[in-house]
Amino acid sequence: MSGTHASGFSRELIAFINEWRSKPGNLIMILHKVQEEQGFVSKEAAGEVAELTGIPLAKVFGVMSFYHFFKTEKPGKNRMSVCLGTACYLKGGQDLYDEARSILGLKEGEITSSDGEFSIEPVRCIGCCGLSPVITVNGEVYGKLVKSQIKGIIDKYRTPVRATA
Ligand code: FES
Repeated sequence: MSGTHASGFSRELIAFINEWRSKPGNLIMILHKVQEEQGFVSKEAAGEVAELTGIPLAKVFGVMSFYHFFKTEKPGKNRMSVCLGTACYLKGGQDLYDEARSILGLKEGEITSSDGEFSIEPVRCIGCCGLSPVITVNGEVYGKLVKSQIKGIIDKYRTPVRATA
């Protein structure tokens, strides 16, 4: 695609940043826009935002870590959300979360598997408490789950690897 900046920002994104650079609340708006375009806000993108707006990089990082909404890692091809709202939590949501993280081999602080296939994040109530505990994968809802079902769900989405006996 033509018209991209060093960090991969599109011309539209740069125009948006220029338009917002001196308005109040601009940093949040700009970071939202970056995440909308790139799916996350990389370190390089944060640096680019700092440069284009004149806002100190430390402040950009500060805002990103304060608002958990901003993702700093590239999301996986498949996105899993595990509900840790009250109803799901009480029915073992945390176990599902831990199990999924362990199957994907995620280390502390990581949200995306090393093969880029999955990312996983805890979410608040998604409005299906009657089905608790609930997870979603790419927006598809799975309810009344037990820990042992997580592997099967992950395998369903994983890009098949040909294995012969
Ligand atoms: S608490 Fe999980 S869907 Fe409501």
